[in-house]
Formats: sequence, C-alpha cells, structure tokens
Amino acid sequence: MPALIIDGKAIAEQIKAEVKRDAERLKRERGIVPGLAFILVGEDPASQVYVRSKGKACEEMGFHSITERLPETISQQELLTLIHRCNHDPKIHGILVQLPLPKHIDESTIIEAIDFKKDVDGFHPVNVGRLVLGHKCFRPCTPAGVQELLLRGGNDPSGKHVVVVGRSNIVGKPVMNILLQKQRGANAVVTIAHTGTSDLSTYTKQADILVAAIGKAEAIRGDMLKPGCVVIDVGINRIPDPTAKSGTRLVGDVHFASASNVARAITPVPGGVGPMTIAMLMKNTLLAAEGAMYK
Ligand code: GUN
Repeated sequence: MPALIIDGKAIAEQIKAEVKRDAERLKRERGIVPGLAFILVGEDPASQVYVRSKGKACEEMGFHSITERLPETISQQELLTLIHRCNHDPKIHGILVQLPLPKHIDESTIIEAIDFKKDVDGFHPVNVGRLVLGHKCFRPCTPAGVQELLLRGGNDPSGKHVVVVGRSNIVGKPVMNILLQKQRGANAVVTIAHTGTSDLSTYTKQADILVAAIGKAEAIRGDMLKPGCVVIDVGINRIPDPTAKSGTRLVGDVHFASASNVARAITPVPGGVGPMTIAMLMKNTLLAAEGAMYK
C-alpha cells in the first residue's frame, strides 16, 4: 500500500489560522500588532522568493512587517547599525536576517548582534543554548515545523527511534535537540547521521522516523528504509526535467516514488516541510509580540 501523504500545506494553514486568531485577540485586548523586520542582503534568487513568501504570510496574519533590501556590497558595520536600529524599535518584535550572507560578512557576528528576545529564527547562541538545556526559547522554524508535522500528523516521536540525516545548525542539530528533550511531543531516541557516516543505510534502516536534511537530491531511496517508517523530507532541490515547462522541478532529499512504497507516511516536496517553516515563523513572531517567551 502506498504511504499516507502528510499534508504540510494543510497543517501549516491550520497553524496560521490559530496564529491569526490569537493576533487579533492581542490587538483587541492589548493594542499590540506583531511586527517583523526582514533583512535581505544581495540578490540571491532563492532568498528573494523566501522573503517575499514570508512577507506575504505577515500580511495574511495582519502583522506589521518591513523588508530592508540591501546591496551585496554593504559593509558589516552598516548591517550591524541596521540591526541595532531594529533591536530598539518597539514596533518590531522579530528580526530575520535572511541567510546566506555575502562572504565578506561574518554570519556569527550578525546573528549575535540580534537581540535574542527578537530572534524569531532561533539562531542566536542564547536561544541555541537554551534549547539544548531544555529551557523555554525561540526554536528554529524548520525544526519546530518538523515536530508539528509529526504531532499533528498523528506520529508522536516519544519512545521512537528518530534518525536525522544531516547535522546543519539550521536543521539537523536543532531537530535533534527538540526531539531529544524529556517533554511531551518529544522524548525520542535520536541518532544523527551525516556526510562522514560510512554505510548510511545501516542507520536509516533503523529509523522509525527518518528526517532527511542533507541537501542532496533524492539521496535516500526506499531500499534504505525500514518498512512502515515515517519519512519527513526537509530537502528542497531543483533538478533538470525535460518534461517540465520550466525544464526543472523540485525534489526532496528522499526519492519519493521508491520511499512511498516502503514508508507508512511521508511528506511531499513541495507541500511538506516548506510551508511549515513559514507557519512557525508566524507563530514565533506572535510569541515575541505577546512577550510570552521573554519578559
Ligand atoms: N536561509 C535558509 N533558511 C533560513 C531560515 O530559516 N532563516 C533565515 N534567516 N535564513 C534562512
């Protein structure tokens, strides 16, 4: 039987509807409108698309948002000055600097300049450290979305073996740190495999839940999976496709056709994890505006 499709688009819509409802109440009862600042440096086409989609989601939520588009040539100091301005702007509750940044700008310096109380991406070392410790903090949006997809799709990871393929700071490591916590909706046994892992399928075959975040098109095939597992595909890769009008198409890190013959449930690409990232960003921004995370 082919695997059940976990509909990330529908689950993301559900979350956004909840956020919108709570944002309306926040405005009504406390006169607060959540505000998010996007900072986009350079002309990277994928980053432009992401920031536009996130801005559109803000509009849908009734949030205030500003987008600062800066030239590739901006100096690190100019970027820091802009971040300091956003840190002190009372209308701005969340700050998102779209990554990657140009090579002459040090990513860590920029992330650390963001007020951790406005770090809705969950990338600041204070939030990263608090996540590891199991304390309340902003959680990175894609990993938080992976957890929500599991829970709202009826696949509680508690007691299960989750194998994460990929050790990035944005996805692999925070997915591990979220699902490992002794907390409801987590409490999993977590293994991380990565580019240094010899014989990857030894590990993937042991996964009750496989999270693929390697950035390599269709690298995980059905024969590498345990029958009946749940597959969460975080990858977004563009590959040539002569049959498509554009000549390309989007695929995940998992080979969907073969994997869906083995797995019990699987997320599609597109329409799986992607929409969840934006929904969780809206949720984090609402929490920032409510002052629910930090006083
Ligand atoms: N680049 C790729 N993913 C992300 C993300 O989640 N946040 C930011 N700021 N940049 C990214």
